Amino acid sequence: MELLRIEGLKKKIKKKKILNGISLTVNSGEIVGFLGPNGAGKTTTIKMILGLFSIDAGHISICGHDVVSDFEKAMEQVGGIVENPDLYKRLTGRENLEYFSSLYPHIDTTSIDEVVKLVKMSGRIDDKVKTYSLGMCQRVGIAQALLHNPRLLVLDEPTNGLDPIGIKELRDLLRYLAKEAGVGVFISSHLLSEMELMCDRIYIIDNGAMIGEKAMHQQNLIEDDVFSYSFLTADNNKTLAYFQEMQTNCALENGGVSLVMKRSEIPAIIKALIEKDINIYAVNQKQRTLEQDFISMTTGSKTQIQ
Ligand SMILES: Nc1ncnc2c1ncn2[C@@H]1O[C@H](COP(=O)(O)OP(=O)(O)OP(=O)(O)O)[C@@H](O)[C@H]1O
Ligand SMILES: [Mg+2]
Repeated sequence: MELLRIEGLKKKIKKKKILNGISLTVNSGEIVGFLGPNGAGKTTTIKMILGLFSIDAGHISICGHDVVSDFEKAMEQVGGIVENPDLYKRLTGRENLEYFSSLYPHIDTTSIDEVVKLVKMSGRIDDKVKTYSLGMCQRVGIAQALLHNPRLLVLDEPTNGLDPIGIKELRDLLRYLAKEAGVGVFISSHLLSEMELMCDRIYIIDNGAMIGEKAMHQQNLIEDDVFSYSFLTADNNKTLAYFQEMQTNCALENGGVSLVMKRSEIPAIIKALIEKDINIYAVNQKQRTLEQDFISMTTGSKTQIQ
């Protein structure tokens, strides 16, 4: 089920174009990444989803409710953190949650206990926030965003400042929420490696424009996709000479020969090498990383911060 739909979203601040027609969707049970360099427009988009910024053009709907024309119904279904969780440092975690719950109807102490347990803060929730680590603040922030039981959770760079264990715990929590509770999670970051581990799908934004979408853990590779391969053979020079005859992108590297080729061509190439009496020890398809995709997508567009 579709929880978030953004269509042609535009925003100008003081005559400067910040967003230039962003479109995306998030479904129930899915963790969707929003990746882009500093100043790309991630926080601006997230503020607009949460009703904190006005919309110049385009539409945002949450569970089918338009954020502008059906504001309250839309907000009932979304919880989020923009930049950093907004907590009162002199109060305890629980007091913070009690205060926020008083802003909504229908939240009782049982819901507070439930979200505290969910984010694994039961042991420290009665301590003052000023004694918390950053990771603990993030957890209470997520608990706060979940208090009114929203179907969509929107988090702006929640891994900022977390150590690797904190990041793993956050990943496990978000995965639990998505896979067990069917929450849709939309999460921004400028860290590629993190998004790769955490997300089912990512959108890449640069300079206020969407420049790509990528599904992670793709099982069904398309035969027409081009990959880089590494051939380890008994006679690499002979292999290279054969590849050069085909006028393809190839080179000697790391004791083998690299080749850039359509996946569907590889079996015929292996047969040809065998017919030429070249012994093959290994053929590896190199994984295209998100980083390469990101670089190839952002190259050519203006990535410098303006
Ligand atoms: N209130 C504002 N007034 C003027 N310009 C703004 C305002 N808020 C954002 N901008 C500009 O909008 C652009 C996008 O900013 P935004 O905060 O959305 O980027 P971001 O992708 O979240 O970046 P970061 O990774 O640094 O958090 C930037 O050029 C920024 O300077
Ligand atoms: Mg930001």
